[in-house]
Amino acid sequence: VVELPDRIVRDFGDGLVVRSAAAEDLAELLALLSQLHEHEAPQTVTDELRATFAEILASGGRAVLVACRDGAIVGTLDLLVVANLTRGGRPWAGIENVVVDAVCRRQGIGRALLDVAADVAREAGCTKLQLVSHDRRGAAADELYSRSGFTAPVRGYRRYLG
Ligand SMILES: CC(C)(COP(=O)(O)OP(=O)(O)OC[C@H]1O[C@@H](n2cnc3c(N)ncnc32)[C@H](O)[C@@H]1OP(=O)(O)O)[C@@H](O)C(=O)NCCC(=O)NCCS
Repeated sequence: VVELPDRIVRDFGDGLVVRSAAAEDLAELLALLSQLHEHEAPQTVTDELRATFAEILASGGRAVLVACRDGAIVGTLDLLVVANLTRGGRPWAGIENVVVDAVCRRQGIGRALLDVAADVAREAGCTKLQLVSHDRRGAAADELYSRSGFTAPVRGYRRYLG
């Protein structure tokens, strides 16, 4: 298992902090994540989701990051660092569930989250950091990723499993 720091905290000034999520963030996090799937009913805290979140938080090589503005959670992403046999045994990293609260967009929050994720992955020795973005996400996601140093030299494949 790739070890990540127990606690990640980066203060960008101006009231913006990116940190690792904690168990008590679940309700705020679920409300924010509902903006990723707006056609689905928002999820609220249940015992099952609480247990799932505890499992995620306890997983090695995994960091759910939250961006907080003046204490409120306004952005998130989920970083996964994966042990690997190729490339001299160096791990690789993936990102999922990138979202910034609709009322706080275009303030650099998505960029801040991705910058912290890249630093954490680099410090863990990763050779690459990758993610996929559905075509329907459009210009905001495309622009954010290219401004954050991502290029698209690969073809992505996805098989939905129901
Ligand atoms: C994509 C998303 C995460 C961007 O977050 P954000 O905090 O607004 O992004 P930032 O403010 O850090 O933007 C950084 C740069 O990305 C580009 N960008 C961001 N949003 C943009 C938009 N709507 N149109 C064009 N460029 C955009 C700009 O270059 C911006 O820099 P600038 O504001 O100085 O011009 C946010 O729009 C979002 O949550 N969308 C809905 C969910 C989603 O699509 N998630 C991605 C899943 S793959």
